[in-house]
Amino acid sequence: MRTMKLGKSDLQVPVVAVGLMHINKIEGKEAEEYVQTCLDIGCNFFETADIYGDGVFGYNEEVFAKAAHMSPAVREKMFIQTKCGFTPIRPGEGKPEYINTSKDYILKSVDESLRRLQTEYIDVYLLHAPDALLNPEEVAEAFDKVYSAGKVRYFGVANYNTTRLQLLQKYVKQPIVTNQLMMSIVNSGLLSRGMYVNMDDDRAIDRDGGVLDYCWMNDVTVQCWSTMQYGYMGGCFLNNPQFPELNQKINEVAAKYGVPASAIAIAWLLRIPAKLQPVTGTKNVKHLIDNAKGADVDLTHEEWYQIWKAAGNAIR
Ligand SMILES: NC(=O)c1ccc[n+]([C@@H]2O[C@H](COP(=O)([O-])OP(=O)(O)OC[C@H]3O[C@@H](n4cnc5c(N)ncnc54)[C@H](OP(=O)(O)O)[C@@H]3O)[C@@H](O)[C@H]2O)c1
Repeated sequence: MRTMKLGKSDLQVPVVAVGLMHINKIEGKEAEEYVQTCLDIGCNFFETADIYGDGVFGYNEEVFAKAAHMSPAVREKMFIQTKCGFTPIRPGEGKPEYINTSKDYILKSVDESLRRLQTEYIDVYLLHAPDALLNPEEVAEAFDKVYSAGKVRYFGVANYNTTRLQLLQKYVKQPIVTNQLMMSIVNSGLLSRGMYVNMDDDRAIDRDGGVLDYCWMNDVTVQCWSTMQYGYMGGCFLNNPQFPELNQKINEVAAKYGVPASAIAIAWLLRIPAKLQPVTGTKNVKHLIDNAKGADVDLTHEEWYQIWKAAGNAIR
């Protein structure tokens, strides 16, 4: 697997990261095989969150550590990223109750994630969502504490716009190395909004403060989530009859490169010069291997635009 530098960190990480939001759905032997396959193919950057577990707080961190047979030797072979911010939900409930990024909450959350992940350190620790009650000075104090204690090596955020990112970085001493954002061929607003400047329609509306460009300029790696989905977790667009033109084009390009269609969805993101890191969220080993193949495909300028247009975008 091709690697890249993660933001301003010293970490050389695979260009495709593995998201563990659904690992609870496989558990046991299947989860063990899944984690081992990730390691075998060089997809050794694992990304999770304390909230993942379909209503059981912290569950996916535990499932992952168990499936990996976590030990110091295993730990050395991988990068682990996790997040906090969405507060515990009661078992059986689907939605977080509120967002908390206070100092005490972060300190407690880091310790709990370390315990569940059976590790002494987290490579990258993210604030999972913008918090209306964000106190950047408190976050900075918490980050300093866990950093000095060797519990966390690097920090990041998810779903932050430009100004929130700037505000936080003003106070936090360590570089924010990643901002995790929703992005796929079908959800490409982060990129395409910059192409319709001053047009007299909704496509010109800037919804994020040009965060993609801001991250690129400031060496904050954008990690893309929902790389195979449309809408907000609307479902997979591959082989989906709602997107006939897009699938036809993707299949045509996939045939040319001799790879599965999903590899083209990943390659499309990797072709953007902003050095994005797609996070693949499949729970299926075959899909994982297929998606990872996207790292080996270098789309031409023309192919990239053809796919983007087949997703419903226009040059003007
Ligand atoms: N920061 C945030 O707010 C945030 C939000 C959401 C997600 N995330 C992170 O991003 C990761 C990925 O998110 P996601 O789950 O939405 O990602 P995704 O990779 O877009 O997967 C979404 C769906 O597409 C299907 N899929 C993936 N590859 C496929 C393939 N090759 N062929 C057919 N179907 C395929 C998957 O089903 P199968 O499992 O059956 O393959 C899955 O149900 C998560 O695990 C999490 O770590 C972060």
